Amino acid sequence: MRLDKLLAGCGKCTRKEAGRAVAKGLVTVNGKTVKDKTFDVNEAADEVTFCGEKLFYSRFTYIMLNKPSGVLSATEDKEKTVIDLLPKELQRLGLFPCGRLDKNTEGLLLLTNNGPLSHFLLSPKCHVVKKYFFTLASPLIESDVQRLESGVDIGEYVTAPARVTMVSEKEGYIEIGEGKYHQIKLMMNAVGNKVEYLKRVEFGALSLDKSLEIGCFRPLSEEEIAALLDCMPN
Ligand code: URA
Repeated sequence: MRLDKLLAGCGKCTRKEAGRAVAKGLVTVNGKTVKDKTFDVNEAADEVTFCGEKLFYSRFTYIMLNKPSGVLSATEDKEKTVIDLLPKELQRLGLFPCGRLDKNTEGLLLLTNNGPLSHFLLSPKCHVVKKYFFTLASPLIESDVQRLESGVDIGEYVTAPARVTMVSEKEGYIEIGEGKYHQIKLMMNAVGNKVEYLKRVEFGALSLDKSLEIGCFRPLSEEEIAALLDCMPN
């Protein structure tokens, strides 16, 4: 891989800035200063430093975000997006949200630049189970729980079976394998109720890290990445 591409891929700078930094002698490969931005590096074996700092390159990046309300699940918009919550170094990596949460929904959102994985996880065939915590405007009675679990009409679409676990009259968890626009809100509307608060707590193999404050993020662990990749067909 070209040296300037590797530097940009680590989020340290743009490709153009990388070229300038290399020319200025700010980059070493295996202990030697390299001034040619096209220098071919072996990203798996060579030790590259930028301004004295050792770099770790990985092809894809995976971030767990605890999305706050009021922020859009988009990469660019007039309004604040989930990407705006990240530092510049991560913003340069071409991350995008894997799926969408409504503007006023909180919780687990995977940000990655692994297009094929994201495409697979979001495909209707994949049935990634998403678990949400909800608070409702009115109590949810047992017959409504049964209707939600069997499938309800959300407007030209009948939802697949879901699982509902109530923790109080108006609060509970719902697990769905689909990802229709506003699905949980529409499902609750279909049984004459209204979602007042919604937070995603699980997305397939991922569980929201309870130590992540709202608006905060962290890279996925090796185990979390392996669990996500594990469900991909070869
Ligand atoms: N269902 C909704 O209604 N909103 C979300 O953000 C996610 C699922």
